[in-house]
Amino acid sequence: MRIIVTGASGLLGKSLCPMLDKEGWQYWACNSKIFDITNTKMVNEIMNKIDLDFIIHLAGYTNIDQAEDNPDLAYSVNQLGTKNIARIAKKHNVPILYVSTDNVFDGTKTTPYKPNDATNPINVYGKSKLAGEKEIIKATKKYYILRTSWLYGTGGYVDAMLTFSNFRKEISVVDDQIGSPTCCDDVSRKIIEIIKDNKPYGIYHVTSGGSTSWADFTKKIFEIKKRKVDVVSINKSDFPRPAKRPKYCVLDSDNKMPYWEEALNTYLSNKN
Ligand SMILES: NC(=O)c1ccc[n+]([C@@H]2O[C@H](COP(=O)([O-])OP(=O)(O)OC[C@H]3O[C@@H](n4cnc5c(N)ncnc54)[C@H](OP(=O)(O)O)[C@@H]3O)[C@@H](O)[C@H]2O)c1
Repeated sequence: MRIIVTGASGLLGKSLCPMLDKEGWQYWACNSKIFDITNTKMVNEIMNKIDLDFIIHLAGYTNIDQAEDNPDLAYSVNQLGTKNIARIAKKHNVPILYVSTDNVFDGTKTTPYKPNDATNPINVYGKSKLAGEKEIIKATKKYYILRTSWLYGTGGYVDAMLTFSNFRKEISVVDDQIGSPTCCDDVSRKIIEIIKDNKPYGIYHVTSGGSTSWADFTKKIFEIKKRKVDVVSINKSDFPRPAKRPKYCVLDSDNKMPYWEEALNTYLSNKN
């Protein structure tokens, strides 16, 4: 199995690549320094010369707030970049797996979003990621679109909270945004399962089971690691940010994913 992994240096890529190693698969871990996915000519020149069996496309413009001020850049990476990579998949006649986001939904539902529910992103990031999904679907039938949410892994939110607990004894966190915190390792395992099992092409929702607010998630991190930090619950309106966030973004996910508290316990069992 020869795989191209775009976005390999990111949060999810850092979790996935060692697992691909364990499978004994050949993979090329790419990031923006190796080639810029928005540079159509460069992508074609490099990718047309190589042999491959599968593309895992993780690269993305992921700063939700900065995307509001840089929509051209967000669309360039998330739409044009994805179009370039999707066309390579089509040309080589290989499957492509694209990781997308809960931000393609508006968060007005009160029950978990199903893969075929109507999308209606409310921020530039979500709109540009949805545009990427559409490019994939337009380019090829051999696609997996895997939507996930609130990812944490090495160097991400959970690690930042543990570091924070060494320096401060109080933190304010929003409690009126509901979602499913999801460990990168669980998503990586799911990606490998999809490839190994030749799952049917289509859109998949892959998050931890259950849901919580950012405030309760943060409290749970400190509780598990016995850190004495007061989490003060605030509303989104107390902490205005450039990008709107979906209020309720729980995805109707595969039921074999661990419940979010269980996944967090597992992740934290390896952390000091
Ligand atoms: N993090 C989350 O909570 C979350 C939730 C749902 C979905 N997702 C999606 O999951 C995917 C992975 O997320 P992540 O958190 O791992 O992202 P991340 O940590 O922000 O990493 C982004 C990756 O994309 C690469 N990249 C950015 N612009 C590029 C360009 N023009 N050309 C080539 N590579 C480029 C970066 O390379 P450099 O290191 O060289 O900059 C990096 O490897 C993204 O598509 C994201 O939209 C993330």
